[in-house]
Amino acid sequence: MKRRETHGSQGVAGAADRRLAASELRDELLRRMRTARLERSASLRALAVRTGMSPTLLVLVEQGKRLPSPRLASEWVETLDLPTDLAQAFVAWARLHHGGPEERIAAALVLDGWRRANLPAPRRTTIDESFVRERFAARFGAPATHIVVAPGRVNLIGEHIDYNLLPVLPMAIDRAVVVAVRERDDQRVRACNIDERHAPCEFELDARNVPDASGSWSSYLRAAASIVTSRLGEPRRGADLLFAGDVPEAAGLSSSSALVVGAVMALCAARGVELPREELMELCARGERLVGVQSGGMDQAICLGGRLDHAVKVGFAPLSLQPAPLPAAWRFVVAHSGVLAHKAGRAKDAYNERVRECAEALALLRRSALARPEADWRELLRIHGAEHLVALAERGLPPTLLRRSRHVLQEAARVEQAVLALACGDLSRFGALMDASHASLRDDYEVSCPELDDLAQLARDLGAAGARLVGAGFGGCVVALCEARLAQGLADELRERWQEPRQLPAWSVQVVRASDGASTRRVDAGPACRA
Ligand code: GLA
Repeated sequence: MKRRETHGSQGVAGAADRRLAASELRDELLRRMRTARLERSASLRALAVRTGMSPTLLVLVEQGKRLPSPRLASEWVETLDLPTDLAQAFVAWARLHHGGPEERIAAALVLDGWRRANLPAPRRTTIDESFVRERFAARFGAPATHIVVAPGRVNLIGEHIDYNLLPVLPMAIDRAVVVAVRERDDQRVRACNIDERHAPCEFELDARNVPDASGSWSSYLRAAASIVTSRLGEPRRGADLLFAGDVPEAAGLSSSSALVVGAVMALCAARGVELPREELMELCARGERLVGVQSGGMDQAICLGGRLDHAVKVGFAPLSLQPAPLPAAWRFVVAHSGVLAHKAGRAKDAYNERVRECAEALALLRRSALARPEADWRELLRIHGAEHLVALAERGLPPTLLRRSRHVLQEAARVEQAVLALACGDLSRFGALMDASHASLRDDYEVSCPELDDLAQLARDLGAAGARLVGAGFGGCVVALCEARLAQGLADELRERWQEPRQLPAWSVQVVRASDGASTRRVDAGPACRA
């Protein structure tokens, strides 16, 4: 008697899940499975007899058209006596689309390891690293010793709550700042940027290096240099640095944090120092605040702690990072509204004002809830829940503070719900939460603008499961979630209907992929530069 695979949680996955399977990882895994089977001269018919499955099902599985249940996958690998790594990866692949959240996270981890060992590393940026190295050598007369890649980020949900120490759910993206560096034997920092809008800058690593709050390219650099100097102490050693990048600026994709993280890591690498990631996350967040925005720690944490094809739930004080696998059938498209959102420029005062308002709202809510004077948003939420606190705010807070606190409380709840939706692969639920987040940022937090609202609506009208402004707001990008098979079409339509009529640059619409966090690579072992 053939056993029937059902469409339940233990059987062959349903239609949505079957699409989850389409990826380079799946293709390579199935290619290796087939090769291993042929090497063992095992026919699918024989395998079907051994596993008690229908041969047609096994053909479909091998062709990537159906997912096996974890039980079928285990029997398959046992019957063929496959090498452990391949066997574990195949079973993990089956588990990724079945089972509970915990099981999926464990399966994603196994697949991640297999992917890194068996597939070429995916592109992390469109910037050509050898071009950056050539330009470095031409500019400074000696080769770079290290290359740093620091990615931008898309925050999937949890906006304007990181500075209230509430968890957020961002992902690092495959657009990055690339830095080539070489240590100098004096205290001078010389830096230039391939993007000629950013003038070269030079300064000494001494008390005169004070970061200014202009938000210019060099102010971030000075901030990075000043925190590295105070952390590493004497002897102060400067460096030559060349920057390039494809994280759009003033877009809400955290180009400034990528710049600070890239510069800090480059300066550390030049000194031969590798600091622990968590310390770097805190240091870089502190460094960026020197430029005048009282931002939270999300951007630096995800820039350093991103994981390929994962979103990461980031918690604060203490920092915690929990990677959550993104279904292969989901895609995120970012599109620029055309309104520039310079975090340290136009938006700075409005941002800092929100930070102050949240502190005031918290103080009043604490009193209404008769909470301890030290209780933070997390403690209030744990004890009273979002709904009760919103009711308290409605009774006791002035209108602006009511709106701000309602956003904070409800956005925090949405992050928790989004983490669950992600674990269940529930695209429409996740999309609905993104829409609700946008509405709250528009109406309660008042950080949107008509262009962002229209663009998010356009993305929804074109088939996105959800869309929201990303980052601090006041302009910049929206991020839209859709099924992988619709992503290119959605991006094309957004180009045609939004980007082209406004004559925005080509990078204004992009399909992005979750990427690994920042990394440093040694590329040459020459002596310090004397130029
Ligand atoms: C900016 C800040 C972050 C965060 C977001 C809004 O990107 O740097 O810390 O507050 O805005 O969520």
